[in-house]
Amino acid sequence: MNTKNIQITETSIDDLGRITVTIRNEQPTDYRRVEEITRNAFWNLYVPGASEHHLVHTMRHHADYMPELSFVIERQGEIVGSIHFTRAWVVNPSGEEIPVIHLGPVSITPELHRQGLGRRLITHAIDRARALGHRAIVLGGFTYHYHPYGFVGTKKWNISMPDGKFYTGIMALPLYDGALNGVAGVLKFSEALYPDESGLEMFDATFPPMEKLVLSHQKDFERAFAEVDEQEYSASKRKSLSIS
Ligand SMILES: CC(C)(COP(=O)(O)OP(=O)(O)OC[C@H]1O[C@@H](n2cnc3c(N)ncnc32)[C@H](O)[C@@H]1OP(=O)(O)O)[C@@H](O)C(=O)NCCC(=O)NCCS
Repeated sequence: MNTKNIQITETSIDDLGRITVTIRNEQPTDYRRVEEITRNAFWNLYVPGASEHHLVHTMRHHADYMPELSFVIERQGEIVGSIHFTRAWVVNPSGEEIPVIHLGPVSITPELHRQGLGRRLITHAIDRARALGHRAIVLGGFTYHYHPYGFVGTKKWNISMPDGKFYTGIMALPLYDGALNGVAGVLKFSEALYPDESGLEMFDATFPPMEKLVLSHQKDFERAFAEVDEQEYSASKRKSLSIS
């Protein structure tokens, strides 16, 4: 049996027996709504405007995209968020590529933030990734978004970015005991995460116009992504910590 083809749908039912929240695999008929929500969620958040809706639009066609781990979350029958994964690797000093998976983008429609929907969606995706036998999830983002799920800076495992540095915003979650033990090296993300941005403007013009603004909180994003992980992991600490 090919477990990759099994579709798991998670639902919640209220006191009257009505389905309130459903998480299911994304279908082609969901694409446009998912892109609208992604655009709204990211608009002016990290930079003036947003590119993540274009990223979702293009990454789906890349060989490294993982449709079996792309989910939408519905609330009362309406899609209100989505999550996407691509293949990634840790390249060790011998040049061997150890496969891991990259989480992102993930978004929930802005008017429903902090109501636990993101947690439901992210937890569901982590559980499915684990059930499919993946080693670890890697991602870049704010620590406050991902520490609640057990993500930790990749310095813990001596996994750096290609510039050789460790950043607090580059995190990993091992999916089974010892999954990242001895997996030191350099992170390699899929080219799917770096689409040709020349198509962004034209693609964005197919959505209702929104104003691009320079906002002070965008600086937090810049800072978060530039913050070098200063934490020291001694050999013994690293060994004990790596059993997670
Ligand atoms: C990130 C995102 C998907 C979270 O979805 P959400 O439904 O708002 O998250 P939840 O309500 O399930 O929150 C789960 C936990 O994450 C943490 N968290 C989420 N948003 C946070 C914020 N703005 N500040 C601090 N902690 C936050 C909290 O620990 C929260 O638990 P709590 O509410 O009990 O304190 C959503 O905020 C979003 O779409 N943001 C815009 C896009 C984005 O930044 N995506 C992530 C980068 S790829």
